[in-house]
Amino acid sequence: MMIVVIDGPAGAGKSSTAQAVARRAGLDYIDSGAMYRGFTVLFNELRHDKEAFFDAIEQERLYFEFDRDVSRVFLDGREITDQLRDPEVNNQVSVVAAMPQVREQITRELRKAVGNSDCIAEGRDLGTVVFPNAELKFFLTADLEERARRRHLEMAGKDEPSDSEEFQGVLENLQQRDSIDSSRKEAPLQKAEDAIELDTTSLSFDRQVARIIEAIERVRAYQSGS
Ligand code: DC
Repeated sequence: MMIVVIDGPAGAGKSSTAQAVARRAGLDYIDSGAMYRGFTVLFNELRHDKEAFFDAIEQERLYFEFDRDVSRVFLDGREITDQLRDPEVNNQVSVVAAMPQVREQITRELRKAVGNSDCIAEGRDLGTVVFPNAELKFFLTADLEERARRRHLEMAGKDEPSDSEEFQGVLENLQQRDSIDSSRKEAPLQKAEDAIELDTTSLSFDRQVARIIEAIERVRAYQSGS
């Protein structure tokens, strides 16, 4: 069994990298951000009523399913995966992710989800808090401008002038989330001491995927004693 984790700030390419590695190296893929986003959909539906929200957390109304390529989220049995990247969710998710009750529940679910299979999971605190004993830890970074550019392209699905108002909005949201995620008391975004840092600002996507796969192959060779 092998657990590979990727942590890093918003928009550093964690999801696309982890998905590509999962596919090519035959690992299960777990997107912990999708879980925080799922809780945020519920928080928004309850109109930010914290008492009702904490009751709902106890009732376990959210359910997560981890396919090889995608992490799916269900609320009261209805799939909400499509809503996870809505602007209302982007704007609130760091607030929800700073709540200890939410973090405890998600940490528990994540540890349960890995089971006995080889998996790659991505988030903010996976190498530091959730899986401190992971076989491989990576920390992906990139310049803020570059991360905003990628997120914006992903949203627009095409080339858009990068000085548009929309681009500024994306950049500000990333900046704000990074600041809340890094300064919160509970499990802040932080590089684990034993994580390998990959700055993807100028590293090609294929190269960063290859770097991680090479490391996985080395662990596999070691585990099988060759
Ligand atoms: O990776 P993402 O952008 O989908 O994550 C959404 C938010 O969830 C992010 O701003 C912080 C929070 N998060 C977290 O606090 N811990 C994790 N392990 C994953 C995400």
